[in-house]
Amino acid sequence: MNENETGGTLPRHIAIIMDGNGRWAKQHGHIRVKGHEVGAETVDMVVSCCAEIGIEVLTLYAFSSENWQRPAFEVSALMRLLRSYLKRETGRLKDKGIRLRAIGRLDRLDAGVRRELEKACRETASGSVMTLNLAISYGGRDEICDAAATLCREVSAGKLDPDAISPELFSTRLNTAGLPDPDIMIRTGGECRISNFLLWQLAYTELYFSDTLWPDFSREELLHIIHDFQHRERRFGRVPE
Ligand code: FPP
Repeated sequence: MNENETGGTLPRHIAIIMDGNGRWAKQHGHIRVKGHEVGAETVDMVVSCCAEIGIEVLTLYAFSSENWQRPAFEVSALMRLLRSYLKRETGRLKDKGIRLRAIGRLDRLDAGVRRELEKACRETASGSVMTLNLAISYGGRDEICDAAATLCREVSAGKLDPDAISPELFSTRLNTAGLPDPDIMIRTGGECRISNFLLWQLAYTELYFSDTLWPDFSREELLHIIHDFQHRERRFGRVPE
Protein backbone atom coordinates (compact mmCIF):
# COMPACT_ATOMS: atom_id res chain seq x y z
CA MET A 1 0.00 0.00 0.00
CA ASN A 2 1.15 3.54 -0.69
CA GLU A 3 1.58 5.95 2.20
CA ASN A 4 1.96 9.70 1.82
CA GLU A 5 3.20 12.33 4.23
CA THR A 6 -0.17 12.59 6.01
CA GLY A 7 0.12 8.90 6.89
CA GLY A 8 -3.05 7.93 5.00
CA THR A 9 -3.40 5.34 2.30
CA LEU A 10 -3.06 6.90 -1.13
CA PRO A 11 -5.58 5.93 -3.79
CA ARG A 12 -3.96 3.61 -6.33
CA HIS A 13 -6.23 4.72 -9.17
CA ILE A 14 -7.92 8.10 -9.67
CA ALA A 15 -10.49 8.54 -12.45
CA ILE A 16 -11.69 11.98 -13.54
CA ILE A 17 -14.62 13.33 -15.58
CA MET A 18 -13.19 16.68 -16.71
CA ASP A 19 -16.40 18.68 -17.04
CA GLY A 20 -17.05 22.41 -17.31
CA ASN A 21 -14.79 23.58 -20.15
CA GLY A 22 -17.69 25.01 -22.16
CA ARG A 23 -19.12 26.94 -19.20
CA TRP A 24 -15.68 28.25 -18.27
CA ALA A 25 -15.25 29.58 -21.81
CA LYS A 26 -18.68 31.24 -21.76
CA GLN A 27 -17.96 32.87 -18.38
CA HIS A 28 -14.75 34.32 -19.81
CA GLY A 29 -16.34 35.49 -23.07
CA HIS A 30 -14.65 32.88 -25.27
CA ILE A 31 -15.87 30.19 -27.64
CA ARG A 32 -16.16 26.67 -26.15
CA VAL A 33 -12.96 25.45 -27.81
CA LYS A 34 -10.92 27.90 -25.73
CA GLY A 35 -12.27 26.14 -22.62
CA HIS A 36 -10.95 22.82 -23.93
CA GLU A 37 -7.56 24.43 -24.65
CA VAL A 38 -7.26 25.77 -21.11
CA GLY A 39 -8.60 22.41 -19.88
CA ALA A 40 -5.64 20.70 -21.59
CA GLU A 41 -3.32 22.80 -19.35
CA THR A 42 -5.18 21.44 -16.31
CA VAL A 43 -4.54 17.94 -17.70
CA ASP A 44 -0.76 18.65 -17.63
CA MET A 45 -0.98 19.82 -14.00
CA VAL A 46 -3.04 16.83 -12.82
CA VAL A 47 -0.83 14.29 -14.63
CA SER A 48 2.36 15.78 -13.11
CA CYS A 49 0.85 16.02 -9.63
CA CYS A 50 -0.45 12.42 -9.64
CA ALA A 51 2.88 11.06 -10.88
CA GLU A 52 4.79 13.08 -8.26
CA ILE A 53 2.77 11.90 -5.29
CA GLY A 54 2.75 8.22 -6.24
CA ILE A 55 -0.62 7.52 -7.85
CA GLU A 56 -0.35 4.30 -9.90
CA VAL A 57 -3.12 4.92 -12.45
CA LEU A 58 -4.86 8.09 -13.61
CA THR A 59 -7.81 7.68 -15.99
CA LEU A 60 -9.09 10.81 -17.75
CA TYR A 61 -12.39 10.91 -19.66
CA ALA A 62 -11.18 12.90 -22.66
CA PHE A 63 -13.95 12.12 -25.18
CA SER A 64 -17.07 10.01 -24.68
CA SER A 65 -18.90 7.87 -27.22
CA GLU A 66 -21.72 10.45 -26.93
CA ASN A 67 -19.36 13.39 -27.63
CA TRP A 68 -19.35 12.39 -31.33
CA GLN A 69 -22.78 14.04 -31.44
CA ARG A 70 -21.33 17.50 -30.69
CA PRO A 71 -21.07 20.00 -33.57
CA ALA A 72 -18.44 18.93 -36.12
CA PHE A 73 -16.39 22.06 -35.39
CA GLU A 74 -16.06 21.15 -31.70
CA VAL A 75 -15.32 17.47 -32.42
CA SER A 76 -12.50 18.37 -34.80
CA ALA A 77 -11.12 20.94 -32.36
CA LEU A 78 -11.05 18.27 -29.61
CA MET A 79 -9.33 15.80 -31.94
CA ARG A 80 -6.78 18.47 -32.94
CA LEU A 81 -6.15 19.22 -29.28
CA LEU A 82 -5.67 15.57 -28.47
CA ARG A 83 -3.24 15.13 -31.32
CA SER A 84 -1.22 18.18 -30.34
CA TYR A 85 -1.22 17.02 -26.69
CA LEU A 86 0.24 13.66 -27.77
CA LYS A 87 2.83 15.30 -30.04
CA ARG A 88 3.88 17.74 -27.33
CA GLU A 89 3.79 15.45 -24.30
CA THR A 90 4.98 12.00 -25.43
CA GLY A 91 8.66 12.83 -24.78
CA ARG A 92 7.87 14.39 -21.41
CA LEU A 93 5.69 11.43 -20.35
CA LYS A 94 8.50 9.08 -21.30
CA ASP A 95 11.05 11.12 -19.30
CA LYS A 96 8.79 11.03 -16.25
CA GLY A 97 8.26 7.24 -16.53
CA ILE A 98 4.57 7.64 -17.37
CA ARG A 99 3.08 4.89 -19.51
CA LEU A 100 0.26 5.99 -21.79
CA ARG A 101 -2.66 3.70 -22.44
CA ALA A 102 -5.99 4.37 -24.19
CA ILE A 103 -9.43 2.83 -23.74
CA GLY A 104 -12.50 3.21 -25.95
CA ARG A 105 -13.58 2.54 -29.52
CA LEU A 106 -10.31 3.81 -30.96
CA ASP A 107 -11.19 2.51 -34.43
CA ARG A 108 -13.59 5.48 -34.72
CA LEU A 109 -10.71 7.98 -34.45
CA ASP A 110 -9.28 9.37 -37.65
CA ALA A 111 -6.08 7.78 -38.89
CA GLY A 112 -3.88 10.75 -37.87
CA VAL A 113 -4.99 10.77 -34.23
CA ARG A 114 -4.84 6.97 -34.04
CA ARG A 115 -1.30 6.91 -35.41
CA GLU A 116 -0.16 9.54 -32.88
CA LEU A 117 -1.86 7.65 -30.05
CA GLU A 118 -0.32 4.31 -31.02
CA LYS A 119 3.10 5.95 -31.29
CA ALA A 120 2.73 7.58 -27.85
CA CYS A 121 1.62 4.28 -26.26
CA ARG A 122 4.51 2.43 -27.91
CA GLU A 123 7.14 4.99 -26.94
CA THR A 124 6.03 5.19 -23.30
CA ALA A 125 5.32 1.45 -22.85
CA SER A 126 8.21 0.86 -20.41
CA GLY A 127 7.12 3.64 -18.01
CA SER A 128 6.75 2.28 -14.49
CA VAL A 129 6.01 5.40 -12.40
CA MET A 130 2.35 5.81 -13.39
CA THR A 131 -0.13 4.72 -16.07
CA LEU A 132 -2.03 7.54 -17.75
CA ASN A 133 -5.15 5.94 -19.15
CA LEU A 134 -7.00 8.14 -21.64
CA ALA A 135 -10.66 7.29 -22.28
CA ILE A 136 -11.27 8.39 -25.87
CA SER A 137 -14.41 7.59 -27.88
CA TYR A 138 -15.22 5.67 -24.71
CA GLY A 139 -18.57 4.49 -23.37
CA GLY A 140 -19.02 2.15 -20.40
CA ARG A 141 -21.96 0.36 -22.01
CA ASP A 142 -20.00 -0.20 -25.25
CA GLU A 143 -17.13 -1.61 -23.20
CA ILE A 144 -19.41 -4.03 -21.31
CA CYS A 145 -21.12 -5.14 -24.55
CA ASP A 146 -17.73 -5.72 -26.21
CA ALA A 147 -16.55 -7.82 -23.24
CA ALA A 148 -19.80 -9.85 -23.30
CA ALA A 149 -19.42 -10.42 -27.07
CA THR A 150 -15.81 -11.58 -26.60
CA LEU A 151 -16.91 -14.09 -23.95
CA CYS A 152 -19.79 -15.31 -26.17
CA ARG A 153 -17.35 -15.95 -29.01
CA GLU A 154 -15.05 -17.88 -26.67
CA VAL A 155 -17.99 -19.99 -25.44
CA SER A 156 -19.25 -20.75 -28.93
CA ALA A 157 -15.72 -21.69 -30.06
CA GLY A 158 -15.68 -24.21 -27.20
CA LYS A 159 -12.79 -22.41 -25.47
CA LEU A 160 -14.74 -21.32 -22.39
CA ASP A 161 -17.24 -22.96 -20.06
CA PRO A 162 -20.09 -20.46 -19.35
CA ASP A 163 -20.01 -21.55 -15.67
CA ALA A 164 -16.44 -20.22 -15.47
CA ILE A 165 -17.63 -16.64 -16.10
CA SER A 166 -17.08 -14.67 -12.88
CA PRO A 167 -16.69 -10.93 -12.19
CA GLU A 168 -12.91 -11.48 -12.08
CA LEU A 169 -12.91 -13.20 -15.49
CA PHE A 170 -15.28 -10.59 -16.95
CA SER A 171 -12.87 -7.82 -15.84
CA THR A 172 -10.10 -9.40 -17.90
CA ARG A 173 -12.13 -8.86 -21.09
CA LEU A 174 -12.67 -5.13 -20.43
CA ASN A 175 -10.48 -2.38 -21.91
CA THR A 176 -9.08 -1.81 -18.42
CA ALA A 177 -7.84 -5.42 -18.01
CA GLY A 178 -4.88 -5.51 -15.68
CA LEU A 179 -5.59 -2.14 -14.03
CA PRO A 180 -6.99 -1.85 -10.49
CA ASP A 181 -10.52 -0.41 -10.24
CA PRO A 182 -10.57 3.33 -9.44
CA ASP A 183 -10.45 4.23 -5.74
CA ILE A 184 -11.80 7.75 -6.34
CA MET A 185 -13.84 9.11 -9.23
CA ILE A 186 -13.81 12.90 -9.39
CA ARG A 187 -16.24 14.85 -11.55
CA THR A 188 -15.72 18.58 -11.89
CA GLY A 189 -18.29 21.06 -13.22
CA GLY A 190 -21.06 20.57 -10.65
CA GLU A 191 -23.09 17.76 -12.28
CA CYS A 192 -23.68 14.70 -10.08
CA ARG A 193 -23.78 11.86 -12.59
CA ILE A 194 -21.49 9.21 -14.07
CA SER A 195 -22.27 9.77 -17.77
CA ASN A 196 -21.39 6.26 -19.06
CA PHE A 197 -17.89 6.35 -17.50
CA LEU A 198 -16.33 3.09 -16.23
CA LEU A 199 -19.73 1.62 -15.32
CA TRP A 200 -18.36 -1.78 -14.32
CA GLN A 201 -15.20 -0.51 -12.63
CA LEU A 202 -16.88 2.11 -10.40
CA ALA A 203 -18.87 -0.48 -8.38
CA TYR A 204 -17.05 0.33 -5.10
CA THR A 205 -15.33 3.57 -6.03
CA GLU A 206 -15.60 6.63 -3.76
CA LEU A 207 -17.33 9.43 -5.69
CA TYR A 208 -16.36 13.08 -5.37
CA PHE A 209 -18.34 15.82 -7.14
CA SER A 210 -16.74 19.27 -7.34
CA ASP A 211 -18.41 22.50 -8.44
CA THR A 212 -15.11 23.77 -9.88
CA LEU A 213 -15.05 24.05 -13.68
CA TRP A 214 -12.24 21.87 -15.09
CA PRO A 215 -10.01 24.75 -16.33
CA ASP A 216 -10.04 26.16 -12.76
CA PHE A 217 -9.30 22.81 -11.06
CA SER A 218 -6.11 23.17 -9.02
CA ARG A 219 -3.40 21.04 -7.46
CA GLU A 220 -4.66 22.22 -4.04
CA GLU A 221 -8.16 20.90 -4.72
CA LEU A 222 -6.81 17.59 -5.99
CA LEU A 223 -4.73 17.18 -2.81
CA HIS A 224 -7.76 18.16 -0.71
CA ILE A 225 -9.86 15.46 -2.42
CA ILE A 226 -7.16 12.87 -1.81
CA HIS A 227 -7.04 13.94 1.85
CA ASP A 228 -10.84 13.61 2.05
CA PHE A 229 -10.58 10.11 0.53
CA GLN A 230 -8.03 9.14 3.17
CA HIS A 231 -10.61 9.85 5.85
CA ARG A 232 -13.45 7.88 4.29
CA GLU A 233 -14.29 4.44 5.58
CA ARG A 234 -14.53 1.92 2.74
CA ARG A 235 -16.48 -1.14 3.80
CA PHE A 236 -17.06 -2.91 0.46
CA GLY A 237 -20.37 -4.23 1.81
CA ARG A 238 -18.84 -5.48 5.05
CA VAL A 239 -19.45 -4.23 8.59
CA PRO A 240 -16.98 -1.78 10.20
CA GLU A 241 -13.96 -3.39 11.89
C1 FPP B 1 -16.41 18.30 -20.92
O1 FPP B 1 -16.66 19.68 -20.78
C2 FPP B 1 -15.09 18.10 -21.52
C3 FPP B 1 -14.85 17.41 -22.66
C4 FPP B 1 -15.91 16.78 -23.46
C5 FPP B 1 -13.50 17.29 -23.24
C6 FPP B 1 -12.38 17.20 -22.25
C7 FPP B 1 -11.12 17.59 -22.94
C8 FPP B 1 -10.10 18.24 -22.37
C9 FPP B 1 -10.05 18.57 -20.94
C10 FPP B 1 -8.91 18.72 -23.15
C11 FPP B 1 -8.26 17.72 -24.02
C12 FPP B 1 -7.85 16.47 -23.35
C13 FPP B 1 -6.59 15.99 -23.31
C14 FPP B 1 -6.34 14.67 -22.67
C15 FPP B 1 -5.45 16.70 -23.89
P1 FPP B 1 -17.90 20.32 -21.54
O2 FPP B 1 -17.46 20.75 -22.87
O3 FPP B 1 -19.05 19.35 -21.54
O4 FPP B 1 -18.23 21.54 -20.60
P2 FPP B 1 -19.67 22.16 -20.28
O5 FPP B 1 -20.43 21.10 -19.51
O6 FPP B 1 -19.35 23.35 -19.44
O7 FPP B 1 -20.30 22.50 -21.58
